[in-house]
Amino acid sequence: MTTPNPQLDAHGRLKHFLTIDGLSRELLTEILDQAEGFLGVAQQAVKKVPLCRGKVVANLFFETSTRTRTTFELAAKRLSADVLNLNISTSSTAKGETLLDTLRNLEAMHVDMFVVRHAESGTAHFMAAHAAPHVSIVNAGDGRHAHPTQAMLDMLTIRRHKPDFDQLSVAIVGDILHSRVARSQMLALRTLGVPDVRVIAPRTLLPTRVEEAFGVTAYHDLSEGVRDADVVIMLRIQRERMNSALLPSEHEYFQLFGLTEERLATAKPEAIVMHPGPINRGVEMDSQVADGRRSVILEQVTNGIAVRMAVMSMCLGNQHLGSPSQEEATHA
Ligand code: NCD
Repeated sequence: MTTPNPQLDAHGRLKHFLTIDGLSRELLTEILDQAEGFLGVAQQAVKKVPLCRGKVVANLFFETSTRTRTTFELAAKRLSADVLNLNISTSSTAKGETLLDTLRNLEAMHVDMFVVRHAESGTAHFMAAHAAPHVSIVNAGDGRHAHPTQAMLDMLTIRRHKPDFDQLSVAIVGDILHSRVARSQMLALRTLGVPDVRVIAPRTLLPTRVEEAFGVTAYHDLSEGVRDADVVIMLRIQRERMNSALLPSEHEYFQLFGLTEERLATAKPEAIVMHPGPINRGVEMDSQVADGRRSVILEQVTNGIAVRMAVMSMCLGNQHLGSPSQEEATHA
């Protein structure tokens, strides 16, 4: 028996969503299946379902974000939850209040779920360990550790184009070392059964022992690494997380690792190109590729709302896997 996963309740159901690590293929598949169902909500005249009516969700973003924060907000609103967006730069933590005090105060206002982004790895786990029993924590990115909803929206995007995970070659290109997105993607891809996951980066931007730790293959040449790939995922260069000169100039980086149509030529003809955003055009990829026919970058944004609806709804009690206890069944 391994140690219990802090994200799961006693019945194996999702209570918090902190990391992909330790979650089963069945559970990840349920997230994707539920998200698939939620994609249709955006097509309705009234873009809402009542699944989380009466619940209160607080967005706590200690690090900047537009896409992730707004899609979490829309997701909560489409589930009919009430949403609080805390402006951290003007809030109490800026006046010295600790994270735990912020948590306790919002719990006293009967917040049911916190969506947390923080520059420090481990913040979401810390909050989950200290939250009141009825409260759920969703990690919206912690340091370079994890960004599990991003990974799941990427998995949904891949599955909608390439339904059979067991057949795929997926290449992740760029600043793997500092990327919480890459870590969560590698775990999700391997858990969902993708046999061939490649990471392509300069040696200075790869974590040590990445191959053994994540079951992936490392490449240092872009054209070689994307050869026959079905999916090419580009990452943003995380300048804000670099404390030394790990890169030559951006121009030189683009010369070696920037995605262009020519470099993409070795991938499969129907390969899709992804990027979590924000893109640095001319650094990670050129505009021809970013806006080209193989790019699914804007689909990733749309899918992000559906995946976040699925995760929030499941954490707040709407889950099929696992068996409800008697007490929960009567309270449902
Ligand atoms: C990612 C993040 O913040 O980790 N972006 C996002 O969620 N939209 C990726 C990045 O900033 O590079």
